[in-house]
This record gives sequence, C-alpha cells and structure tokens, in this order.
Amino acid sequence: MARKAAEIGGQQTAAPARRAGSVYELTVVSPTFNERPNVRPLIAKLDAALKGVAWQVIFVDDNSPDGTAEEVKAVAREDSRVHCLRRVGRRGLAGAVLEGALASAAPYVAVIDADLQHDETLLPAMLKVLQADEADMVVASRYIDPEGLSTGLSQTRQQGSRLATWMSRQVLKNDVSDPVSGYFMARRSVWDLSAPKLATEGFKVLFDILASHPEPMRVAELPYKFRDRLAGESKLDRRIVIEYLSLILNKATNDMIPARAIMFVLVGSTGFLVNVGVVLALNAIQAPLPFWGAQLAAALVAMTSNYLINNAVTYHDRRRKGLALLVGYVRFCFLCSAGLFVNVAVASFLDDRLHAPILSGVMGAAFGAVWNYVTTALAVW
Ligand code: GDD
Ligand code: MN
Repeated sequence: MARKAAEIGGQQTAAPARRAGSVYELTVVSPTFNERPNVRPLIAKLDAALKGVAWQVIFVDDNSPDGTAEEVKAVAREDSRVHCLRRVGRRGLAGAVLEGALASAAPYVAVIDADLQHDETLLPAMLKVLQADEADMVVASRYIDPEGLSTGLSQTRQQGSRLATWMSRQVLKNDVSDPVSGYFMARRSVWDLSAPKLATEGFKVLFDILASHPEPMRVAELPYKFRDRLAGESKLDRRIVIEYLSLILNKATNDMIPARAIMFVLVGSTGFLVNVGVVLALNAIQAPLPFWGAQLAAALVAMTSNYLINNAVTYHDRRRKGLALLVGYVRFCFLCSAGLFVNVAVASFLDDRLHAPILSGVMGAAFGAVWNYVTTALAVW
C-alpha cells in the first residue's frame, strides 16, 4: 500500500509516459450523414496525404440509416487512427463538427467533408501554417483560385454560395474570402474558446467561429478546387439556408436581438407592401368596394400572408399544419389586431403629451411590433 502511494507520488514529478504513436498532432473531424460509400476512400486519401504526420480521424455520424457508423467501426477495428462518434436523436452538421473537435486532444483540429469534395492534399500545407505559428486558423478557400468553384456546385448553388459569402463578410471582423467554407483547420484553443458560443444547428460552423471567437484571431487562407460529389447526395436544403440567415442576423446585432424577432419584423414589412399592393390592385380593377372595405380587405390579405410566411420561415422548425394551422391563423389575426390597437393607443398617448407626431408614430409602431412578436411567439408558435 505504502509502496503504491510512493509510486504514484513519484509519477507526478516524472515526465508523462509517451507511447509511440499514441500522441496525435492532428485530429481530422469528418461529419457524416449517409456517407457509407465515401468512408474508406476518404481514409485512404487521408493516409496518402498525411504521410509523416501523427493524425487521427473522428467521424461524427448522426445515426445514418445507411450504416455509415458501422462502416467506420469496421475500419476502426483494424486501424487505431480511425474513430467513430455516433450520435443518436440529433441532427446537425455544426453540432457534429463541434463535438468531434471537442473530443480531440491534439494541438490541431481540421474539419473536412466526408464526401471527397474537399481536396485533402491541402492538409499538410494547412498544418504547416499553424505549426509555424503564422496563423491560428487556416481556411481552405474556393474563391482564391479562379477555377476554385468551377465544379462541385450547380449554378444556382454557386450564386447562393456567393451571396452567403457576401452577407457573412458584412458581419465579420476578419476579411476571409470564403467564410462559409466547410474545410478548415485551427488550433484546439480556438475550438475550446468559441465552443460555448456556437450554434449547433445548420451548416455554418466556420462563420460562427469567426463571429463568436472572443479574442482576435489570425486567419490564413489557402486556395483549393472544390470537387464534384461522386457518391451520395448533398444535405443542404431550404431549412439550412434559413438557419444560416438567422445566424447572420443574430450576429449582426451582437446577439442582442433574437434572429426570430428580426425575421418577424422583416416579414412584417413585406406585409406592408402586400397591403399597399392589394389596395392599388383593387383600385385598378375598380372593385365595387367602399374605401374602408378595400383597406380592410388589403389588411386581411397582408395579415394572412404574414402568417403564412412566418409559419414557413420564421418558425420553420415549429411549423403548424392542418387544423393547427387554422387555429393558429385565428389567434394570429386576433393578436395582431390587438397589436394595431396597442400601436394606435401608444402613438396617441405620446402625441398628446409630446406633440411630436413622427416620433409618436414610430414609437407606436415599435410597441405594436413588439406586442405582435411576443404574443404570437407565446400563443401561436
Ligand atoms: N453528422 C452530420 N449531421 N453530418 C452532416 C449533416 C448532419 O446533420 N448534414 C451534412 N453532414 C455532412 C455530410 O455527410 C458531408 O460529409 C458534410 O457534412 C457536408 O455536407 P454536404 O451535404 O455534402 O454539403 P454541401 O457539399 O452541399 O455543402 C458544402 O458547401 C457548403 C458551403 O457552400 C459543404 O462544404 C459545407 O460544409 C459548406 O458549408
Ligand atoms: Mn458536399
């Protein structure tokens, strides 16, 4: 017993035991959803690209129905550099990447798509930049090489990606040419520091880290050519795009205003346009309606379009369907009518005292908007 204690005490001062091959310099995190046919080719490509580097790969799989996790584990039984983190009951690229990165103890952590669209031969060059302490993060960019995005994405997706890039750059302090890249490498400290602030839904891990990292960060970029996907299909859909827009809005206001509230107000302003549009249309066709009747009809159309757009976009994750859609609609109309009353009441109250009609009107509208947002958030969605 005494001897054991002495041994333990002795070990504390001795250098930690190192077994050759058990200490990784680089962790490559690869998020997967239905990528079974790409697992072995990716590992082979990593093996070829990372000769001379002590690396490991962690596949983070969201319980893919095609058995991706089983495939990874089959390889892992023969290759100790290969690991699988299987998540159940959860979906989301950002969260998967984050969990993989946080499971790593290596000084450098890279993210790469499993579908072979990212050129893995760039990894050693990315690693060199970090090892030489020239940057804290290295982004593989599709926008430096003029040919970088000539393949791999459809025309529409290319335009979408350019737009997404432009919007991100308006919000970020770092001037990065490809802030929505899914391919990058960073010191582990970058991951550790930003982790508590990152969103776990959606695709934009890099953008989120760039926007959330609490300290100044040196970012380098290296060009590569985005490849065509050979097996499986892309998981980027409308929902992902909406989540991305919310994230940008949220970061644009420094996390102060919830993205949903901003979206709600934006949708509200489309309602204004719809309202005016309907009045003009009714006028144009010379509809047999009194002025107030046309105005009421237009307001109802605007309210309905606001409801449907909010249901499909702002609250896409809690979308109401069928009978619930109808019940929600009645409540929405009722609450927004009350909101109109709040708007007018506040504006008149202020104007009586301040005699500043524009200021009072704006305040009334703001109170009405807050009322609409808060009450419908509680009672409708
Ligand atoms: N674990 C997990 N969970 N993995 C996911 C999920 C998910 O919910 N959704 C997608 N993935 C994995 C895919 O299996 C793939 O390995 C990688 O994430 C990228 O997904 P793709 O569906 O292939 O994305 P893409 O090629 O359309 O989009 C590319 O361009 C975007 C920017 O335009 C990717 O490089 C994205 O990372 C990038 O943001
Ligand atoms: Mn892809």
